[in-house]
Amino acid sequence: MPVQTIADVDLSKKNVLVRVDFNVPLEGGKVADNSRIRAAVPTIDYLVKRAAKVILLSHLGRPKAQKNLKYSLRPTAQELSQLLGRPVIFLEDCLGDDVQGTIAEMEPGSVMMLENLRFYAEEEQNDREFAKKLAAYGNAFVNDAFGTAHRAHASTAGVPSLLPIKVAGFLMQKELEFLGNRTANPERPFTVILGGAKVSDKIGVIDALLDKCNNMLIGGAMAYTFHLAQGKKIGNSLAEKDRVADAKAALQKADKKGVKILLPVDSLATDTLNFETRTVGAIKTVSEDIPDGWQGVDIGPKTIQIFSDTIENSKTIFWNGPMGIFEVSACAQGTFAAAKAVARSKGISIVGGGDSITAINKSGFSDKIDFMSTGGGASLEFLEGKEMPGVAALSGGPHK
Ligand code: 3PG
Repeated sequence: MPVQTIADVDLSKKNVLVRVDFNVPLEGGKVADNSRIRAAVPTIDYLVKRAAKVILLSHLGRPKAQKNLKYSLRPTAQELSQLLGRPVIFLEDCLGDDVQGTIAEMEPGSVMMLENLRFYAEEEQNDREFAKKLAAYGNAFVNDAFGTAHRAHASTAGVPSLLPIKVAGFLMQKELEFLGNRTANPERPFTVILGGAKVSDKIGVIDALLDKCNNMLIGGAMAYTFHLAQGKKIGNSLAEKDRVADAKAALQKADKKGVKILLPVDSLATDTLNFETRTVGAIKTVSEDIPDGWQGVDIGPKTIQIFSDTIENSKTIFWNGPMGIFEVSACAQGTFAAAKAVARSKGISIVGGGDSITAINKSGFSDKIDFMSTGGGASLEFLEGKEMPGVAALSGGPHK
């Protein structure tokens, strides 16, 4: 059932609880990457303009039900205040008399943020009494936290079940549109680019997307598990031997469905990799068969060419996961070439996953991308077709 959005209901002058996902990286007490906060601004702005009292709920990190200020949301409230150009009231607890008192005194059109919900075990337990306390602060609920929609927690599932008005924010709506409709009914050719270390993390998504795409480009260390499945030599490269059967099954499925799975035809390989110091020893380009003593660390130049051509000729592109160990500059070329090709393509481009988004941002092409998902695990679970409790709670029915 399609969910309603904030544009479908009248929220003016209401006390609106907004679940956001401000689970962002912090460095030295400051927000290191504000993408998720920026992405929630249109919803917050919209409510401010309608003179709603905006009460923001979020988690940050995994504080294990302890009030650990390392996980305080205060820096995110400061960052949001800068982005909105208006004050954001920050409360040091998400429960207590202070919250009710502050809401009563807030001017219409002002914004308040409560402290990390995960300082209470009840949040992750989806405790009914905890949800009731939070729900009592507002008379409407907006979920703009796509990144946390795969969790059935008090603030994502419990609170909306208690309030009469529960709708998706603009970010949530966009995520569902791009990761849902645009990949379910894509303009073709539809090319999926998957990377990262493990087949085990992505096998669900591989399986689901093989039903939808025309081309699947596989890079990163997961490609070597596929190479093992094809009987190739991978030298000392990282691979999951216990996932070779999954890789074989994916190759067979692709064959049956007429989907082209493209694997690296060459790799950049090194004899020594020190991830701590971000350094490599000798480095050379090798063919599909990697000699013993050498480890594949990036896709090679021929593969970059083939992948880039395929990407640039696609009408819909979804990319998740780096093509190599892009944190080490000597092994970053494949990932940046993918970022460039995605940006240059005239097709609809959707990028998901922290590493691919970092690569896009570093490459300077972020403004050329149609949509960058704020979801990590949530995007993958959604693409797999799994039920999203945070979305289901908005319509009372499961996401299909
Ligand atoms: C994320 O960053 O993926 C979300 O904020 C969810 O966080 P979690 O995996 O700790 O539930």
